Amino acid sequence: MKIVDVVGARPQFIKLAPVLKAIQKHNREAGGTPIREVLVHTGQHYDYEMSQVFFDELGLKVPDHHLGVGSGTHAYQTGEMLKRVEEVLLAERPDAVLVYGDTNSTLAGALAAAKLHIPVAHVEAGLRSYNRRMPEEHNRVLADHCSDILFCPTATAVENLRREGFGNVLNGGRLLPRGGPGELFLSGHASRSGPLAVNTGDVMYDAALLYASLSEKKSKALEELGLSPRAYALATLHRAENTDRVDRLAGIMEGLERIAAEGLPVVLPAHPRTRKALKEAGIGVRGVKVIEPVSYLDMLALEKGARVIITDSGGVQKEAFFFMVPCVTLREETEWVETVEAGWNVLAGWEPEAIQQAAKGSRQGDEATPVYGDGHASSRIVSFLSMFTNIGRV
Ligand code: UD1
Ligand code: UDP
Repeated sequence: MKIVDVVGARPQFIKLAPVLKAIQKHNREAGGTPIREVLVHTGQHYDYEMSQVFFDELGLKVPDHHLGVGSGTHAYQTGEMLKRVEEVLLAERPDAVLVYGDTNSTLAGALAAAKLHIPVAHVEAGLRSYNRRMPEEHNRVLADHCSDILFCPTATAVENLRREGFGNVLNGGRLLPRGGPGELFLSGHASRSGPLAVNTGDVMYDAALLYASLSEKKSKALEELGLSPRAYALATLHRAENTDRVDRLAGIMEGLERIAAEGLPVVLPAHPRTRKALKEAGIGVRGVKVIEPVSYLDMLALEKGARVIITDSGGVQKEAFFFMVPCVTLREETEWVETVEAGWNVLAGWEPEAIQQAAKGSRQGDEATPVYGDGHASSRIVSFLSMFTNIGRV
């Protein structure tokens, strides 16, 4: 069978890595239907630090199609992607299209495929923040509703879908048994029509487990930045709701500055969107070490070594949880509710005082429970897909 992967933004290159490895393993071990994978990079992210560094470091294949879309308004960017992805799909005629997460690249990939009656599989399906001002919330809801297979990272995500009327939930929303999808198919569960939601676990957890020891061996990030383990805060910031409102951006930066002024160094690998917003708003940065975005292996090292992580990133909130580092989230809500429920993550919003207090009071939660799967989400996804040779019937 032939599948097309559509990616374009930083976290998608990271999610892709374990899935590509699982496809290679599947093809090596044979037995099932071999999978031919075609990689499409929309070009949503294009700076070296936002894109190529991940291909180099994680050994990802060169994209078969690079669409070079670049930046723009939501409509421009999504529209250009939609047109260019459609051309690729018409030429490639895959059996399924895989999209990852909640970006504009995901929405374009899912919509282009669905309109061509090509089955869509959504990795990281079912997440909800219930904040309709987030562009990502529209992207994920729309992508879910035009998908045929919804690969959910958590039981919460499956439950969110069930509430939205997705009735065909395999294995009752529990984590799919390893090597078990075959049995579930044979038992006839999957032969019903309509989209299918399954809990595979989280591919980002797979990635963190896969690359943690390589990061330990290779990364010199702490030494290079002059940081000592457990003696600094790591911050990231890029959500439109924070960067595009000057009061929020200024409030967050003041919160970080206060933490640094109290003696805990703060390092902020700055997303280009944030750098641009700080410059345009004329917000100076005192005491916070603002650096270029770092590679994944360096990021894992910085996360593991931090005393506290302060972020508005979805992926970084989870990685803090994986490594049992307390997290302060610069938002009012999160899709990754399990991290808050387990006591590792505090929602602090954007007011300086709240950020400062949350960072100071950040405590360790209970021993992290395995809510994001067992590190084998990618192999479940791949074996599930390979069994779907007659996928068109969903
Ligand atoms: C996008 C995703 C967001 C995801 C984030 C991961 C959408 C709607 N948003 O947000 O869900 O969390 O990626 O990082 O898809 N820019 C550069 N160089 C680059 C990329 C971007 O300078 O390589 C600048 C441009 O000024 C651009 C801005 O960053 O306009 C925003 O980029 P864009 O891809 O539109 O959204 P992100 O904020 O990165
Ligand atoms: N990341 C990275 N370098 C950085 C910042 C983040 O490698 O400078 C990684 C991080 O470890 C996580 C992913 O990028 O795996 C998260 O991406 P991002 O915060 O851009 O997007 P989100 O997860 O919020 O969609």
